[in-house]
Amino acid sequence: MEIRWFAMHLSSMLQKNILQFLDAERDVSVVKSSFKPGDVIHYVLDRRRTLNISQDLHSLLPEVSPMKNRRFKTCAVVGNSGVLLKSGCGKEIDSHDFVIRCNLAPVVEYAADVGTKSDFITMNPSVVQRAFGGFRNESDREKFVHRLSMLNDSVLWIPAFMVKGGEKHVEWVNALILKNKLKVRTAYPSLRLIHAVRGYWLTNKVHIKRPSTGLLMYTLATRFCDEIHLYGFWPFPKDLLGKPVKYHYYDDLKYRYFSNASPHRMPLEFKTLYVLHNKGALKLTTGKCI
Ligand code: CTP
Repeated sequence: MEIRWFAMHLSSMLQKNILQFLDAERDVSVVKSSFKPGDVIHYVLDRRRTLNISQDLHSLLPEVSPMKNRRFKTCAVVGNSGVLLKSGCGKEIDSHDFVIRCNLAPVVEYAADVGTKSDFITMNPSVVQRAFGGFRNESDREKFVHRLSMLNDSVLWIPAFMVKGGEKHVEWVNALILKNKLKVRTAYPSLRLIHAVRGYWLTNKVHIKRPSTGLLMYTLATRFCDEIHLYGFWPFPKDLLGKPVKYHYYDDLKYRYFSNASPHRMPLEFKTLYVLHNKGALKLTTGKCI
């Protein structure tokens, strides 16, 4: 009883501290009234370069925050580590009230281990190249449209304003959503989100260069969820028994976060989340669910 009280107290303290840095309800997405078509903005992590707000992008901006007044008892944030394979965590993940996933990771083929419920899913622009052949063929585009149509009216969160390089991919994605009248609810993180999240962790002595998608999602979730359960967070090439673990459960991408070239410091992030897990502020599952 006392331990549970301590854990709840700690989660709400954490939530209050994070709130001093970011207003997750607002920063989760810019809204239509923030811009008009033709506006020019500076990329968040590359201030010298600019992006034009196109008609398509503007028409897909939400009228109000997609997370306005949303509150859940339990949430799952699902990272993409290969540690999920053979975990049997699918059912447990799907049992949470709100499920957040990263980078449009496939689910159907891996349902037993990762579940299928996706209420909120992120998509870095690079996913178009990496998982959908850069939309070179009609079949790549069809595969993408099919994947989005499975999301129904879930939130599709596209960090479009971070760095230059993905603008044409974002435009293609926007055009496909509009052309196919997909119901997915698009969201584009605010220009200050990443700095606010980084600022919060830096003041807590977690020196991250750039928060990973998973850490961003956990930080946002503290605002909307009473209890947060993390799955698929394991940024290490081996498990505790020394068996190899894939970087992603669904592709053959190699580990990059030990090199300086990587923008993230996932092992440090993991250590931080593990400390919070031990204090009871969140639940990190890195093994089997059954
Ligand atoms: N993750 C992890 N261990 C891994 C792979 C991923 O803990 N082996 C977590 C990270 O928090 C990561 C999230 O799962 O952010 C989603 O994975 P991925 O799609 O690879 O994340 P990105 O942060 O977008 O990485 P990148 O910027 O390199 O694409």
